[in-house]
Amino acid sequence: MQQPIKMERTGNPKAKPALTDMQLGFGQYFSDHMFLMDYTDGQGWHDPRIVPYAPLMLDPASMVFHYGQAVFEGMKAYRTTDGEAQLFLPERNAERLNRSLERLSMPPLEPGQLLNAVRTLVHVDQDWIPRQEGTSLYIRPFVIATEAAFGVRPSSRYLFTIVLSPVGAYFQEGLQPVDILAEAQDVRAVRGGTGSAKTAANYAGALRAQVEARAAGCSQVLWLDALERKYIEEVGSMNVFFRIAGHVYTPSLTGSILEGVTRGAVMELLDDWDVPCIARPISLDEVLEAAEAGTLEEAFGTGTAAVISPIGGIRWKDRFIPINGRQVGDLSQKLYDTMTGIQRGLIRDVYGWTTRI
Ligand code: COI
Repeated sequence: MQQPIKMERTGNPKAKPALTDMQLGFGQYFSDHMFLMDYTDGQGWHDPRIVPYAPLMLDPASMVFHYGQAVFEGMKAYRTTDGEAQLFLPERNAERLNRSLERLSMPPLEPGQLLNAVRTLVHVDQDWIPRQEGTSLYIRPFVIATEAAFGVRPSSRYLFTIVLSPVGAYFQEGLQPVDILAEAQDVRAVRGGTGSAKTAANYAGALRAQVEARAAGCSQVLWLDALERKYIEEVGSMNVFFRIAGHVYTPSLTGSILEGVTRGAVMELLDDWDVPCIARPISLDEVLEAAEAGTLEEAFGTGTAAVISPIGGIRWKDRFIPINGRQVGDLSQKLYDTMTGIQRGLIRDVYGWTTRI
């Protein structure tokens, strides 16, 4: 049975930023409240509560700081054109959070409890959902290990937190194509490791290559597999798709790739539109050869944050290979318009992806 959520409302609401795409950026502002719930071995998850947004007080010996038991999710609430609020495929985020928790030896959450927490928190802070096209309320649930102890073993205590952030476009470029750097030195993940879990360490280990990409004038890293350094895995923190001679390809989920919620929705749309989409290993050589032969029609990343992010070109060693004349491809545009149209209630959701709050 679900425990009731205790509520403590702020007596001191923050001044809201102008909730337009231009000012918001990504993850710069945080709403008035947050959700907290504790876990203790023997007792399970307990004390769900919504409280005013504030810094967390943690023991410096908390295991998360030392051994990195930290997992998170990213999802969004949208203001629909008729003034309602809705979530996009929240059940899939809940399932993935549990897969991440399992991989990091952390206790599972009851999906119904997580979704109830998300809905209740978003409802309390619904005035923070921006209205302008291209904006949404980003929802960041995360779980960290809080037992104060230095032994290397799973923690016996955890804290589950949800915070909300009104956001605009993830990339400054918006839907404009971004250039990417194929990474030769670092790898993001290896099969058998934690690549398919949304855990903090995967992002920390990716930062060095991201800095290198920026220095090379690129926005993101194109990650290659760890074993052969040959097959494409992800782009930045997104899944990646290539359209080659009318067929769409995306790397198959081999254990080192995060299973994106947007990736799944894009594959369903393509299937519905009779655009052949195949998940299989894709080598960088194959993509570069297609570009040279003129059959690489477009490429794009997919993720909750950016939705669809067209790729303008790939830098690899001393070569730069432009894609589709650095223009937004037809398919990228159609996918972006359809996904965001469904999310904002402009297009009827025949797929059952959205849930009203
Ligand atoms: C996403 O594309 O949703 C991400 O995973 C990016 C996030 C880490 C900011």
